[in-house]
Amino acid sequence: MTSLKYLFIGPIVQTIKSGANIELQIIEEADIVVQNGQILEIINRPNKSEIKADIITILEKGQFFTPGFIDCHVHAVQLPNIGLGYDKSLLDWLEAYTFPLELQFSDNSFAEKVFEAVVKRTLSLGTTTACYFASLYNEASLILAEKAVKYHQRAFVGKLNMDRVRDDNYYERTDISVDNTRKFIDDVYKLKSSLVNPVITPRFALSCSMKLLKHLGEIAKENNLLIQTHVCENTGEIEECKSLFPDCPTYTSVYEQANLLTNKTVLAHGVFLKDSELKILTKYNSSIIHCPSSNTFLRSGLCDIQRLRRNNITVGLGTDVAGGNLMCMLDVMRSALEVSNHIAFIQGDSYKPIDFVDAFYLATLGGAEALSIDSQVGNLIAGKKFDALVIDLKAKDSPLDNLKTLTLKEQLQRLIYSGDDRNIVNVYVEGRKVK
Ligand code: GUN
Ligand code: FE
Repeated sequence: MTSLKYLFIGPIVQTIKSGANIELQIIEEADIVVQNGQILEIINRPNKSEIKADIITILEKGQFFTPGFIDCHVHAVQLPNIGLGYDKSLLDWLEAYTFPLELQFSDNSFAEKVFEAVVKRTLSLGTTTACYFASLYNEASLILAEKAVKYHQRAFVGKLNMDRVRDDNYYERTDISVDNTRKFIDDVYKLKSSLVNPVITPRFALSCSMKLLKHLGEIAKENNLLIQTHVCENTGEIEECKSLFPDCPTYTSVYEQANLLTNKTVLAHGVFLKDSELKILTKYNSSIIHCPSSNTFLRSGLCDIQRLRRNNITVGLGTDVAGGNLMCMLDVMRSALEVSNHIAFIQGDSYKPIDFVDAFYLATLGGAEALSIDSQVGNLIAGKKFDALVIDLKAKDSPLDNLKTLTLKEQLQRLIYSGDDRNIVNVYVEGRKVK
């Protein structure tokens, strides 16, 4: 039996890479042919021949396709804390709010309830790919992977590693942490999902021994896995890192020493990276995940991603919920634009802040590059998966008026500066409609 052929007809607004340059590509009227979740071809209207398809979807006037959003850094366990606790900065926030909540995930029924909400909510907000920090606990982490499979979200799911002894018992012995990580990887592979994969997840240098970090580097290498952690988020954290790893000249060098830096490593924040650390990241081709809302609300600092990009470091975007206050990548794009403007206020006229096309790129193709899945997703081109959003600025209940005719480029601009999830009317992951 051959599988069904789908035809989607409508405009596409997306970014493409032309050499090292990012360009906004607008196709006013595209025919997108999809089979088995994959884009077979995209034909521009004027060149159109008669396409045969089993199921045809034609967008309404005013609607357009974009690639799905990629949230490269989100703590699924922290959704119950969203919007709370921003009176404290990182290390105190972790102790007062985050660890007590995360301890509750030893209860599988609580994990079920929270992860069901996380996956459904992020999908409806247009997040077609999420790179999750799950739980310290294997069972809870596997529940998150199962929810992503069930609701058809592309996801990386990381069982957390922490082996520094704590009074509240929120840690694992080093050998148990290693064994549990191997078991978790096997269990995720047993789900036999092409969408959901494990990711090696040492929480951050402060919660791990060098011995554990080195083991995790080996496991990642054996299985060719993505690695995620945090780096240089907060000045107090960096001081603490110095005292825990006195032999390492910088925070980044801790991960280098553990063989955790690869071209499949994504490091969240990187607000205070030194020039020497940028060199290390460039050498290993590791990526930084910019989490502007979290950096603002936990008052961590202003991360200058233009500096990172000048140093050829790939940058993706993350909500970092619940350090970040909102789950929708539209809010993160806006926050990245605000932070970049604020840096420009300080640095003066010579500083070029990011624009809305940069923000859109970071939330789509840039995120795909950071997670090393840009051969599969990030924009809608032949050979990639159909992970797409249908955008409608005039959608029901949306306050965005229609008092002026806008070009597609202006519509994208308005979506990013003033839109919300009401404007995301449909969401597709690998060809399947999930909203
Ligand atoms: N560093 C270590 N753990 C965390 C966390 O849960 N959130 C953030 N924002 N930073 C961290
Ligand atoms: Fe984080």
